[in-house]
Amino acid sequence: MTGARGVATNRGADGSPGATGGVTTATTTSTADPDTAALESDLRDGFFGDPPTVPPRWFYDEKGSLLFDQITRLAEYYPTRAEAEILRARAADIVGDADTMVELGAGTCEKTRVLLDVFAGRGSAGGSPAEAASPAADPHAGADTHTAAAGPLFVPVDISTEMLFGSARALTAEYPGLRVVPVVGDLTALEGPLPGEPGGRLVLFLGGTIGNFTDAQRTDFLAMLRGLTDPGDRVALGFDLVKSPERLVAAYDDADGVTAEFNLNMLDVIARTVECAGLDRVDFRHEAVWNAGESRIEMWLRAIRDVRIHFPTLGRSRTLSAGEGIRTEIARKFEPDALVAELAGHGYVGPTVWTDDAGDFGLVLVVVD
Ligand SMILES: C[S@@+](CC[C@H](N)C(=O)[O-])C[C@H]1O[C@@H](n2cnc3c(N)ncnc32)[C@H](O)[C@@H]1O
Repeated sequence: MTGARGVATNRGADGSPGATGGVTTATTTSTADPDTAALESDLRDGFFGDPPTVPPRWFYDEKGSLLFDQITRLAEYYPTRAEAEILRARAADIVGDADTMVELGAGTCEKTRVLLDVFAGRGSAGGSPAEAASPAADPHAGADTHTAAAGPLFVPVDISTEMLFGSARALTAEYPGLRVVPVVGDLTALEGPLPGEPGGRLVLFLGGTIGNFTDAQRTDFLAMLRGLTDPGDRVALGFDLVKSPERLVAAYDDADGVTAEFNLNMLDVIARTVECAGLDRVDFRHEAVWNAGESRIEMWLRAIRDVRIHFPTLGRSRTLSAGEGIRTEIARKFEPDALVAELAGHGYVGPTVWTDDAGDFGLVLVVVD
């Protein structure tokens, strides 16, 4: 996994230097491997607190991304199916007359294809993949980000390099005429300007990933995004809705243990990325709990025996007694009205809210004021 905070990377789909989409991530002064430096910083910020925490971005090495893809197909994991239902029903409304689509935390872009079918005018655009003038197909071609003349531009942004480039390659082949410019980077540390014409951008943030932020992180994220966008640009946010704790917990603790493996894989990512001693997945078990007070599911890695973990490069150790846990993810569940009010406070107006028929998941489309 590359593309941590500190890397400004717009790449062709093969990973070679690609088109300049405009969007980059903030730089740091560290000369270390960027992943190592970013994880060390995250550990310093969270691992020695009470409780110890590690941000969910560290789930997503190649294996973690594949496991998440498996999770989306589990019987218990309703969010992906519910959000896909909304996207299918509302694709034309969501895409509107956007000339540029930027997807944050794009992953496989599986659900996004419903929107890309409309956006890329599939079936009417003509041409073949070989004729497509996509920077992802030809990373040396460069990109004119003034898209009105050059055709629709899709910019998937993700921290998971292999998954992102794989998605970009597939989309380039599937959508003739669509320019695909993948950007490896941390979606919480983007620097603008976003590619595309002011007022013509659609920013997608799907999958309920907005729920992975604390209230303070969500505030920072919405403010950052507002700063990167212009009046008339639109933002589509997928968010999970409050429902029975039994269904919520099952969605994050499936019978086949895929989510448990996804959670435990983070320990392997940490052990591989930073120097450490005493960190071993066999000493932990996965746990998903509903925190009603905070309206969120929490994923924990709970120590099953006393463990002492040492990080030589940080010069710090942490002892966890049996039963103590590391919090690896929060997944906030929203009331639509409260989320819309919060968005309005950040200058996102004109909300349209849709849910799936079962009322499990929501999508809000707002306009930048
Ligand atoms: C919950 S998955 C959602 C994937 C997809 N959007 C969907 O709806 O199925 C979160 C995605 O965001 C990416 N991601 C997580 N943290 C990130 C970060 N800080 N910066 C960029 N991408 C991140 C992951 O690699 C993953 O692809």
